[in-house]
Amino acid sequence: MKNISVIGAGTMGNGIAHVFAMNDYPVNLIDVSPSALDKALATIDKNLSRMVSKEKITEEVKTKSLANIQLHTTLPDAVRNADLVIEAATENESLKLTIFKELDESCQESTILATNTSSISITKIAGATSRPDKVIGMHFMNPVPVMKLVEVIRGYGTSDKVTADIMDLSKNINKIPVEVNDYPGFVSNRILMPMINEAIYSLYENVAGVEEIDTVMKLGMAHPMGPLQLADFVGLDVCLSIMYVLQNGFGDTKYRPCPLLINMVNAGYLGVKSGEGFYKYSSGSKELVLSDRFKK
Ligand code: 3HC
Repeated sequence: MKNISVIGAGTMGNGIAHVFAMNDYPVNLIDVSPSALDKALATIDKNLSRMVSKEKITEEVKTKSLANIQLHTTLPDAVRNADLVIEAATENESLKLTIFKELDESCQESTILATNTSSISITKIAGATSRPDKVIGMHFMNPVPVMKLVEVIRGYGTSDKVTADIMDLSKNINKIPVEVNDYPGFVSNRILMPMINEAIYSLYENVAGVEEIDTVMKLGMAHPMGPLQLADFVGLDVCLSIMYVLQNGFGDTKYRPCPLLINMVNAGYLGVKSGEGFYKYSSGSKELVLSDRFKK
């Protein structure tokens, strides 16, 4: 597997393109929006420069990595020679089904089609294609250049060979793959999201404030971020939609999203991406500032 195409130039897409390009893979990065592509390339440049300044890579590796990335706004040409396509478009089921149908028609028969979905069924996505044996989940974690894990998710029809190839490829880009089966939330979000939801319930039921809840988990459990800060980082809308996937998939009341989470999403308090969630964010500042809404 050599030629990689990545669909979607958002946070996850640009991180995935960054990692493959840095490990000598030619990458076609595809997005319908030219400005999203320019922004992605600027982000990759900035993150590579950060790695150069920390002496993790050389200036030469940075230059080579950027040269490995080609930008495209249309799909068929950009996937025609791909050995692997990784879809990292918006987390919307009907959009993903449409993309996979188009990929199935545009790609060579041998091309493996992977999705970076955080919770949509791989088996359902595979059903939009005529090659369910070659459809698989490659769930990268944010920030992709830093986090070691790739959760490799086998759909109901994914073949052993394709799974083994994707496990090997993940190792080739210096990640640590873990193979899991396709059930709601896979492993990562089945465990992470109920923890975040429970942290929001603890706030909603006034067990403790935002900073206290996050401090308990940071200092008591050695988490790098508290669950409420992590919810802001992931996006509260993403957390809510994954809770709905768990609730619908398992039909169990333990996955009921906290009403406070629902209210915040409806009001547009989505975390880092909207500028405010449990904390307030301004660009360039690393200081964690509590939202006025949660001040006592
Ligand atoms: N590209 C390259 N390097 C980056 C980077 C990026 N985008 N972002 C951070 N870094 C590097 C920094 O240079 C730094 O390197 P160093 O250790 O050599 O100094 C290191 O990562 C740590 O960064 P910072 O010093 O800026 O900040 P922190 O120490 O606060 O770490 C963090 C930031 C890595 C984000 C850390 O807080 C963390 O691990 N948080 C938890 C992240 C997490 O849980 N991610 C998973 C989210 S869930 C998900 O993605 C699944 C989805 O389906 C919901």
